[in-house]
Amino acid sequence: MAENKESIGNTLFVAFMVCLVCAVVVSSAAVILRPIQQANELRDRQINILRAADLYEPGMDVERAFEDIDMRFVDLDTGEYVENGFGRDYEHRRAAREPEKSRRLQEDPAGIRRQANIAEVYLAWDDDDNLTRIILPVHGYGLWSTMYGFLALEPNAHTVSGIGFYEHGETPGLGGEIDNPRWQANWEGKELFDEGGDVAIQVIKGNVDSGTPNREHKVDGLSGATLTANGVNNLVRFWVGEQGFGPYLSRMQQEYAEGAVN
Ligand SMILES: Cc1cc2nc3c(=O)[nH]c(=O)nc-3n(C[C@H](O)[C@H](O)[C@H](O)COP(=O)(O)O)c2cc1C
Repeated sequence: MAENKESIGNTLFVAFMVCLVCAVVVSSAAVILRPIQQANELRDRQINILRAADLYEPGMDVERAFEDIDMRFVDLDTGEYVENGFGRDYEHRRAAREPEKSRRLQEDPAGIRRQANIAEVYLAWDDDDNLTRIILPVHGYGLWSTMYGFLALEPNAHTVSGIGFYEHGETPGLGGEIDNPRWQANWEGKELFDEGGDVAIQVIKGNVDSGTPNREHKVDGLSGATLTANGVNNLVRFWVGEQGFGPYLSRMQQEYAEGAVN
């Protein structure tokens, strides 16, 4: 007798086989493509670091340019470098999710809740082995999202040379103007600390002009997007302050003054 092809058993069997084949195809693709994805993520991060440091040119050999940039790992409490056990894919934003590598923040002006104990920094060098940039990965909450970026400093560890964000969910045309190179250009040359060494950098509401007091510390706000601008203000002040890279920057300032940066 001919088998009934439309029986419930057959239907379930065919459905199961289709699911199985699809699952195998999707998981194989995920496994095979993962290394390519990781390489692209790394390249993307490298481009963003070069951009923040104003060292990026379209079409450049990113891998080659990155040969002049060292990645170091900083104990945020002491400001000293630590060496062991960190790969070039380490990111303090991710380590902050792991309880044994991070702490919960009591004071949290950047709205990040947790902070890693160790953070990566990037040091750019010229052909004569002189330090040209210190690049800090920074993040904090804006209006709608956590904004992730890099703050680049001159080798004196207190003058800003650039800022850039590579991930955020702020509104295009409003908070999204943090990506506008014209706004980012406002940061260049700004001083992070006052003469007493306290954090003085500030994103103001409105524009900085020749009459603005202490304008070496002040950055233009974002018209119609003060809440995002406040978020950038808070995150930059947090990350260059005592709870962030402050101890590291103090050490680097001292080494720079002594001509002993390494
Ligand atoms: C749909 C929508 C999206 C908005 N997106 C942002 C944003 O991304 N960042 C921001 O600061 N303000 C945004 N705003 C405006 C804020 O609600 C708020 O009015 C603004 O930050 C105040 O800035 P101002 O004092 O410079 O006008 C948005 C408003 C609306 C209605």
